[in-house]
Amino acid sequence: MEDKLQQIQKSYQNKIASSKTLKELDEIFIALFGKNGEIDQQSSQFSTLPKDELKIVGPFFNQVKQKLEKAIDNRRQAIREETYNDLENETFDINEGEIKKRTGHIHPLTATDHNNFEVLNIPENHPARDLWDTLYINSELKTPNSKLLLRTHTSNSQIRALKNNKPPIRLMNIGRCFRYEQVDSRHEHTFEQFEIIYVDKGVSMANLQFLSEYFLKNIFGEDIKARLKPKYYPFVEPGVGVDGLCIFCKGAGCKVCGGIGWLELAGAGMIHPNVLKNGGIDPSIYSGIAWGFGPARMAMIKYGIEDIRLFNSGDLKFAEKF
Ligand code: FA5
Repeated sequence: MEDKLQQIQKSYQNKIASSKTLKELDEIFIALFGKNGEIDQQSSQFSTLPKDELKIVGPFFNQVKQKLEKAIDNRRQAIREETYNDLENETFDINEGEIKKRTGHIHPLTATDHNNFEVLNIPENHPARDLWDTLYINSELKTPNSKLLLRTHTSNSQIRALKNNKPPIRLMNIGRCFRYEQVDSRHEHTFEQFEIIYVDKGVSMANLQFLSEYFLKNIFGEDIKARLKPKYYPFVEPGVGVDGLCIFCKGAGCKVCGGIGWLELAGAGMIHPNVLKNGGIDPSIYSGIAWGFGPARMAMIKYGIEDIRLFNSGDLKFAEKF
């Protein structure tokens, strides 16, 4: 058995020394140490050897095994270093390579001027555009007939909802909005809105009033004090603001509500006939209501948060309170 072990050692040391790749070395390793490999086959014969012979063969076997393991390790290290050296000597002429031209695409958070304003009854140069301090993007990606912007509200989803569905339509959609805003305790430049749309035959302001109250009571509890106030939005007629009583001053006026006593939670109204028409819906048959809620303002009232800027502040002490 000693002879056989010596033979294995010699032939495998040669194989190891002449191996060129890590893959070749792995194969050698498996042939030696794998199940039914050369080493395994030798050790399985131990039980047949007389005790005296085993005393000599055992330590020799271990020696051979360790030598071969070490030889593989050393060769592995050497092959790695050779590869690194090759890499060091390799050069790459950036001017020769062909660089793939990658054209980006419009991020889903951005919208076009068309959906954000145009089809919502707010044509270009209409003074109502000033109601939204808009961040336009100066980009080559703009669509041919429409400027690219960061959407100012989720109402841009109205037109898709109307075009892609047949009444009755009841849907809600949430998204991030961006405005070039004078930031203060209740105005952020980046904030969420969710839009609720309901279109059917005979939908009226009475539905809007009832559903606003129903919705707010379910979120804030029966005691919520809410009001609808007249408000102008070009894409609704009539338009309203949905206010919740400012919980910080109980209506007396403070810096959170800007001295008004109420926090505006949503804009809403009866969808303007022109918008229904733009969405392919006949306004002589159907009518609709829509809301655009600001969930951050709602959370301010629900959790008693005095400053909207805390939501995006990254302040862990604030985030861990919830
Ligand atoms: C709009 O954005 C309209 N699109 C809402 C609407 C939808 C009207 C459907 C009619 C029909 P307004 O700019 O008022 O409206 O914003 C609506 C709500 O979003 C506000 O009541 C407020 O809750 C929230 N919001 C508006 N601006 C900010 C801001 N800068 N920071 C945080 N929340 C805001």
